[in-house]
Amino acid sequence: MATAPEALAAFHDYEPEPEDFEAAVIAGLSKPQKTLPCKFFYDEAGSALFDRICELEEYYPTRTELALLETRAPDIAALAGPRCHLIEFGSGSSIKVRILLDAMESPEAYTAVDISREHLLKSTEALAAAHPEIEVHAVCADYSKPLELPRPERHPDARPVAFFPGSSLGNFGAEQATRFLRRTADMLREGRGDLVIGLDLQKHVSILIPAYDDAEGVTAAFNKNILARANRELGANFDLGGFTHRAIYNDEFSRVEMHLVSDRDQQVTVGGRHFRIAAGETMHTENSHKYTIDGFRRMASEAGFIPAAAWCDAGNLFSIHYLKTV
Ligand code: AVJ
Repeated sequence: MATAPEALAAFHDYEPEPEDFEAAVIAGLSKPQKTLPCKFFYDEAGSALFDRICELEEYYPTRTELALLETRAPDIAALAGPRCHLIEFGSGSSIKVRILLDAMESPEAYTAVDISREHLLKSTEALAAAHPEIEVHAVCADYSKPLELPRPERHPDARPVAFFPGSSLGNFGAEQATRFLRRTADMLREGRGDLVIGLDLQKHVSILIPAYDDAEGVTAAFNKNILARANRELGANFDLGGFTHRAIYNDEFSRVEMHLVSDRDQQVTVGGRHFRIAAGETMHTENSHKYTIDGFRRMASEAGFIPAAAWCDAGNLFSIHYLKTV
């Protein structure tokens, strides 16, 4: 555990491989439908842009989930019980988890898992300072891959309660989502743990599309940041002005897709490889799957969870599920 002496949170760096990015960009640009994987959105600039998205009028998920968490925190805390070890996947700014920590009875430990190192360190230090009674761990890792989590030192047997808010599961396809859930259930079962997960719900496109294509263009900047990052980190030569942000709803897969549409015929070079991008051709950058409450319960059951409760807001925009393993 490489922790600075003055640090309040224990830092575990699993070093999500940086070379992954170049290989992923090259593989994505080599496909008939070009893709760029969305997990690379979240460098420092991308994380800051995502935080701005969460403040947008059009982007309802964050504020809806926050309000739902506030309302249901006592129910969640009652199901979780005392002295838990809360584990958050994709902790970002660790804002939502504070609602749970405040409502839970004597939580023992909090482990934050995030791929964005600086963001993770800043938010876990702040959280540890605000909650000196909780043992805080920061794990820099890619949670879409299997990983071994630290055990709390003071109480290694604290009951694990995983927290996966923000509809982040929506970035995965059905197969990958089921695999992630199964792996999480397997990880939690030994400690008789639970999972609290927030998921965006299916709704009319007149609400969905503006949420992913806001008037101010913050989501467009967030989408294009992956090109800027490739230019910065891989020495690629994407012309950010040569692409237009596009959000569409794919009915067949119940998902919002983000694309970057090429405004003209152009060429890009990444890692010594040249790729031609035709006028109108798109690079598919993100999927954001939208669920129904029953559909998700079925998926969770298939993955080995036992659905215990599900809540949604009055507008049926967003859902929070409480799943058990035993
Ligand atoms: C963080 C994956 C849940 O899909 O809504 C926001 C990311 N993309 N605006 C989502 C996102 C465009 C967000 N997730």
